Amino acid sequence: MTTTLPATVAEAMAAARMLGVDRLDAQRLLAHHLGRPRSWLLAHDTDALPAEAAAPVLADLQSRAGGVPLAYLTGTREFHGLDLHVTPDVLDPRPDTEILVDWALELLAGELAVVEKPQVVDLGTGSGAIALAVKQGRPRASVRALDASTAALAVARANGERLGLDVGWLASDWWSGLPPPRVHLALSNPPYIAAGDPHLPALRHEPIAALTPGGDGLAALTTVIDGAAGHLLPGGWLLLEHGFDQADAVRRRLSVAGFECIGTRRDLAGHERCSGGRQPPATAAPVR
Ligand SMILES: C[S@@+](CC[C@H](N)C(=O)[O-])C[C@H]1O[C@@H](n2cnc3c(N)ncnc32)[C@H](O)[C@@H]1O
Repeated sequence: MTTTLPATVAEAMAAARMLGVDRLDAQRLLAHHLGRPRSWLLAHDTDALPAEAAAPVLADLQSRAGGVPLAYLTGTREFHGLDLHVTPDVLDPRPDTEILVDWALELLAGELAVVEKPQVVDLGTGSGAIALAVKQGRPRASVRALDASTAALAVARANGERLGLDVGWLASDWWSGLPPPRVHLALSNPPYIAAGDPHLPALRHEPIAALTPGGDGLAALTTVIDGAAGHLLPGGWLLLEHGFDQADAVRRRLSVAGFECIGTRRDLAGHERCSGGRQPPATAAPVR
């Protein structure tokens, strides 16, 4: 492990290479420490690093090499066009989750467009990523978001205040603490990694309760699906993110729970990543 303090931008990039840190990540870290855009680095390769920046830059490069998410080191993550603050109390939001948001925005602009003030809930909100992106994209929606972690909720609430997005934050064990009204649309990216999954050790810097419910990874998805009927309006939708190999199991559970119009969306890698369905409407009339 390199311990020599970098004196220039080029030396910091060389240290990153020796540590095995991705070039883009290293540039983002440097840009963060220097308070400059990444493009500035390219033209200032030989510039001296401010003396006070050298040690923190090296420490962060070492942390990144040890698997700490870049977002925890810079404190920010861009998600669906929003700059979110993230801390080790919350999952580092993933690009795959934008697929769930896109699906929700489509429903709110399509089938649910007739609803003047659609009720939306995000279960297991973490940094608030899904709830805030939906509120940003469809301001007419009344959005609530819950999490069992009060530390995560504090991060989410602060993101909402900073971004000026009005979301109702709630401490709750899945559906148990969610008061009426029933919702038109429920969204969740619950912990779904199986306990023995070989990827889990590499994610050790993120909160374990955000990653895995233990066992085969399906417990939280099942709880959210099985509790949905008591909180969705007739004709209301539930959309879930899940593991690349869990789509069959999730579709089966949605079907057993009485959902209709069950479908799945794939991520950019082509994996089945989000599944959802609709509660049967009470009448033929659209939900209002
Ligand atoms: C995979 S993370 C998703 C975070 C965020 N929605 C996102 O997409 O970036 C799962 C979230 O579920 C929360 N969670 C875990 N168990 C929960 C429970 N019993 N009730 C409510 N939320 C829970 C975790 O604290 C975590 O924030």
